[in-house]
Amino acid sequence: MDAVRVARDERLLADVVRQAAAAARASALAAELQHSREQLVAAREEECRRLRRDLHDGLGPALGAVVLRIDTARNLAATRPEESDRILRQVRGDVSAALTDLRRLVHDLRPPALDDLGLAGAVRQQAERLLAPRVAVTVEAGDVADLPAAVEVAAYRITSEALANVARHASASRVRVCLEREDGGALGVTVADDGVGIAPGAPAGVGLVSLRERAAELGGRCAVECPATGGTVVRAVLPTDGGGTR
Ligand SMILES: Nc1ncnc2c1ncn2[C@@H]1O[C@H](COP(=O)(O)OP(=O)(O)O)[C@@H](O)[C@H]1O
Ligand SMILES: [Mg+2]
Repeated sequence: MDAVRVARDERLLADVVRQAAAAARASALAAELQHSREQLVAAREEECRRLRRDLHDGLGPALGAVVLRIDTARNLAATRPEESDRILRQVRGDVSAALTDLRRLVHDLRPPALDDLGLAGAVRQQAERLLAPRVAVTVEAGDVADLPAAVEVAAYRITSEALANVARHASASRVRVCLEREDGGALGVTVADDGVGIAPGAPAGVGLVSLRERAAELGGRCAVECPATGGTVVRAVLPTDGGGTR
């Protein structure tokens, strides 16, 4: 009789412990999710602040000064034409510099190669730039037309960072980049090299963290693995529906 009761109590206790553990796990996951959301929002805020600062403190005053100097040149045009011309030539230089700044800002927002060459072309160009002729590069691309702009930019930046890492750290002889649509429409991005692999205990730098962050921002994921057969594989899945698939 007692033995039956003890067994029943033990089962009950085990049940309670299991449920408590599940609840604790769920609440830890929820806290983690909330934390990574907050990090994403903070990162976006920081990006906007930087952009605003660059526009406001850089381009704003530069263009303001141009207006003032053109006025001065106009005032001097009749009486001191040479001085007027000198000022205008200077102003021309200032406008050129402002244009360079503007191009850099625009490039940071969306690499122009994406519009000129498409995603696959832009990735191919980047791979050639970073790795040719030392490393043999293959870029395989399925149907990657008509992707949302944010997915294109993320895929381009993830492959660029992964390829830069191959160039800097891998001592690889081959690298394969694969861009393909998965079931459900998500974009799969793979960069696989045959190099030395990531040394155990190598601290994750800004690059590897940003791979994960860029994917997470779109509701996707990115993993970096070193398979037993050697080399390093960066694999990202980027949802194309604004984060519905996971
Ligand atoms: N493809 C790779 N092959 C070998 N090691 C790599 C590769 N990618 C990354 N690593 C290692 O992981 C470290 C962290 O990479 P990352 O976060 O991009 O920082 P960084 O490139 O600035 O050093 C690198 O310093 C390097 O030791
Ligand atoms: Mg890096």
